[in-house]
Amino acid sequence: MRAILSLVIVPLVLSGSFATQYRPPPVSHTNFPKGFLFGSATASYQVEGAWNDTDKGESIWDHITHNNPNFIAEQQNGDIADDSFHKFKEDIRIMKDIGFKSYRFSISWPRVLPTGKVADGYSKTGLNYYTELIDELLANGIEPLVTLYHWDLPQALQEERGGWLNPNISDYFADYADFMFSKFAPKVKYWITINEPLSIVNGYGDDARAPALKELHGIGEYVAGHNLLLAHSKAYKLYQDKYSHNLGKISMAFCGSYCAPASDSVEDIEAAERCYQFTFGWFIHPVLKGDYHPLLRSIIDENSQWEGRKTSRLPYFSQQEIDQLKGSADFLGLNYYTMLLAKPGLAGLDPSDQRDSRVVTLWDPSWKPTVASWLRVAPEGLRMLLNKVKNDYGNPEVLITENGYPDDGSDPLNDTERINYYETHFAAIRQAIYEDGCNVVGHTSWSLMDNFEWRDGYKAKFGIFSVDFNSPNRTRTMKKSAYWLKNYIAMHDYL
Ligand SMILES: *[C@@H]1O[C@H](CO)[C@@H](O)[C@H](O)[C@H]1NC(C)=O
Ligand SMILES: *[C@@H]1O[C@H](CO)[C@@H](O)[C@H](O)[C@H]1NC(C)=O
Ligand SMILES: *[C@@H]1O[C@H](CO)[C@@H](O)[C@H](O)[C@H]1NC(C)=O
Ligand SMILES: *[C@@H]1O[C@H](CO)[C@@H](O)[C@H](O)[C@H]1NC(C)=O
Repeated sequence: MRAILSLVIVPLVLSGSFATQYRPPPVSHTNFPKGFLFGSATASYQVEGAWNDTDKGESIWDHITHNNPNFIAEQQNGDIADDSFHKFKEDIRIMKDIGFKSYRFSISWPRVLPTGKVADGYSKTGLNYYTELIDELLANGIEPLVTLYHWDLPQALQEERGGWLNPNISDYFADYADFMFSKFAPKVKYWITINEPLSIVNGYGDDARAPALKELHGIGEYVAGHNLLLAHSKAYKLYQDKYSHNLGKISMAFCGSYCAPASDSVEDIEAAERCYQFTFGWFIHPVLKGDYHPLLRSIIDENSQWEGRKTSRLPYFSQQEIDQLKGSADFLGLNYYTMLLAKPGLAGLDPSDQRDSRVVTLWDPSWKPTVASWLRVAPEGLRMLLNKVKNDYGNPEVLITENGYPDDGSDPLNDTERINYYETHFAAIRQAIYEDGCNVVGHTSWSLMDNFEWRDGYKAKFGIFSVDFNSPNRTRTMKKSAYWLKNYIAMHDYL
């Protein structure tokens, strides 16, 4: 292992390689561009609770947690979660106290549109909740970063229509987006249509997420991904056509574990590129360039043909769809947590996106493990990712829409590993900005508070505030990392 790892290089940084070892930057502690958007993030199902308040519709996460409790660690669910539905004013107070300039939250589609469809009518209570939330943020000088879809699909759309597999879902999503734009476009300047399409498709070819349709592996993830891209591009077009005078910016929030080659061999360098194209690139490339990356296209087409299929498992876009997708982002939203080392090999279900990529991944032993099995601490991967998107796509504006560290919450008043995580990731961002010329405009810490972490229930805690899940008050308490961030942001503001 060590022999392999000592050879790690970065293929796409023109100024030569930088080692995997973290190198402190030669810039001052607080050096960030003026107006850098420090913020924090949550998502509706993970924090709101009030799952059945008045006329809210059921979501696929309500459904799976209630009907298949063993799907979640300790049979937990988001019925109450952080009760942010009732406590949002307190949440805004605490984020203001830290000095955050932005709050990234998501709108629960079934809270606003109980059946998912505009034609069936909207919930006044649901809409009112988001109106009050946005108004309270603006009154406190905090920029709302609104995500339209962070995984809580209306169950009615899943049950009756196959969710993201239905060819019509991009139209339902565009109608929903139109409805939200019509209410909030004058107030909201940053929109994320869809959070982590790569994670969403894990529910349509794997059981990592709801609706957990693992049996569709190799096909479902590509169909769902295709419809997610179409949904995004329709919402983007609609905004440009009807709401652009509000001067808002729109993107998706893309994710992946950044892949570096496991050695400097051509095979490993190519494996790392495939790994990138099958994760971040799967969605970023069509959004910026209009169609799937040629590598993705050719590999999946070839594999499908070899399997004796008449059509590719990766659907094709029409020319009109390509034209509409191309350039459908005003900035790149990037969620970064960790990285991997890639080399050629076969892994994953046969067939599946993972197997199609012909990549196996390793950890560098110097990357510290965390309570989340998928996350090791590797800030250098963030700098590599920022350089990758700069070099591949002409240095687009990047907003880091998620970044954070999980622990078991056993020592919230001394969460030094989380502080270390933020400090080293901020340093990697500053290096990317000042040494590499990357266009990074903000950082959003995941998360404002401990919350429902999907299949991990409440076990993996990412918050800078802890939440007492045993108290009906869901009392929030500042962790040491929150004090640290408060100080860090204040020093930056001062300069
Ligand atoms: C909402 O769900 C809770 C359980 O989470 C239940 O106790 C309550 O009766 C439900 N309320 C309504 C109005 O259905
Ligand atoms: C898609 O929408 C059209 C028009 O409303 C409808 O006729 C068709 O049945 C829908 N397709 C599916 C798969 O739901
Ligand atoms: C906090 O944790 C660090 C190591 O992570 C340890 O050195 C220090 O003694 C701890 N402080 C307190 C007050 O527990
Ligand atoms: C919840 O908050 C209320 C009002 O602040 C307080 O009176 C009560 O003691 C708290 N309950 C618990 C269990 O913390």
